[in-house]
Amino acid sequence: MSSNTANLLYLITIVTFILALRDLSNPASARRGVQIGAAGMMLAVVVTWIRIGTTSWWAIALGMLLGGGFGAVAARKVHMTAMPQMVALFNGVGGGAATLIALDELHRILPPPGAPKVDISLAIVLSALIGAISFAGSMVAFAKLQELIQGRPITYSGQQFVNGALFLAALGCGLALVSGVQQQWLLWVLVGLALLFGVLFVLPIGGADMPVVISLLNAFTGLAVAASGFELENNVLIVSGMLVGASGTLLTLMMGRAMNRSIANVLFSAFGQIQDGGAAAAAAGADGGSVRSASAEDVAVMLAYAHKVVFVPGYGLAVAQAQHDVRQLADLLEGKGVEVSYAIHPVAGRMPGHMNVLLAEANVPYDELHELDEANGEFPRTDVAVVVGANDVVNPDARNNQGSPIYGMPILNVDDAQAVVVLKRSMNPGFAGIENPLFYNPKTVMLFGDAKDSIDKLIADVKNL
Ligand code: TAP
Repeated sequence: MSSNTANLLYLITIVTFILALRDLSNPASARRGVQIGAAGMMLAVVVTWIRIGTTSWWAIALGMLLGGGFGAVAARKVHMTAMPQMVALFNGVGGGAATLIALDELHRILPPPGAPKVDISLAIVLSALIGAISFAGSMVAFAKLQELIQGRPITYSGQQFVNGALFLAALGCGLALVSGVQQQWLLWVLVGLALLFGVLFVLPIGGADMPVVISLLNAFTGLAVAASGFELENNVLIVSGMLVGASGTLLTLMMGRAMNRSIANVLFSAFGQIQDGGAAAAAAGADGGSVRSASAEDVAVMLAYAHKVVFVPGYGLAVAQAQHDVRQLADLLEGKGVEVSYAIHPVAGRMPGHMNVLLAEANVPYDELHELDEANGEFPRTDVAVVVGANDVVNPDARNNQGSPIYGMPILNVDDAQAVVVLKRSMNPGFAGIENPLFYNPKTVMLFGDAKDSIDKLIADVKNL
């Protein structure tokens, strides 16, 4: 295949990636986006395969079979709640691949008289450095989320200093390589330091902040892959790497904004270290509020005779896998003339779009999903807000309590509704590890139990009315 034909086909691939990103930004077209992106990726792989010719084709085929087979099985089997760690794993291997390409490229170029030009050695250094950090950091993120290691921040004194020194040492090796010290061992040292830095950089970050970190590492992998594109003079790698880098950066910033936390706060504040739960509980109860628990029968009556009900899903909905049951209950209520909608907080659950994906799985119509601002406008005319396994995203302390770790985070103002029903199993806190005064609000009743069981009871009771 001529180089012109290959570049033309690569251009088509680039266009498919851009179209895929556009479609992925809307739940209604997301499935098509995935298909377009996958078709583009397939085209890129086939073109690359043909260009390589017969050299080592069997080794590549074996690698693709192993990698593709693992990816396909993992993607089919993974539970929705384990999606963040799978993204971490897949992202990490991308960074690792960029590092291996850098090591191989230098090895290929180096034998005399082949010293690489400055631009190529810069690309090699960047892809090795960023790729290794992304690989090691993603593996730690995976291990934390999979609970292979402790999820809480692991901190020790002088940590930032050690991390800073490691990073500067890796950077020093990179500068030496770019400025003409063309030694393969120097790149190996750089990779070793970057791997160590990647591990130590993610260890002090709380397990719950991992989705933000994974998104940032995803952006790193994109940049590392773009640098590999310069090494290999491959336009698809350059453009797709930059697309991943840009979208990962935007997603990281958006998640930070939705939690009202700066990226520096996520990375360096060891958020999520164990708090004094007793003191937090005492503070919340200090207003003299008490918790009212209701039976499913009581709640069913509230729902069946309401004009407007808003469901507020959170992480507990994902754990209980109650999305189909919620949809069934909503259909039942709509059949009784109740207006139903869903209020979606941008960081409800544990990954971007978590609630949208779950509710889409249950075929909830997209026009019933209302985002933060729209939903907050509706609560004052809502009879019952049903909070299904959400906690932090409805915590009024984010609005009212300047001392709260989540103060300033935009929340769903469910307490503006006439009545609030909270479905959860206990009084345990959510991700941020803090108490929620909503549960002590006189408007609120708690329906304790697994969300799926509670919704099923509600369905049965509403049917009996
Ligand atoms: P959380 O605040 O984590 O609360 C989830 C609640 O679900 C818990 O209080 C838990 O209480 C309940 N629960 C768990 N399993 C349940 C089950 N089987 N049935 C019923 N309830 C169950 O969730 P949220 O309100 O969705 O907030 C998300 C949090 O994650 C925020 O703090 C956000 O900042 C953080 N975060 C999100 C993201 C993204 S991108 N989504 C990224 C990083 C961080 P019980 O144990 O008492 O049942």
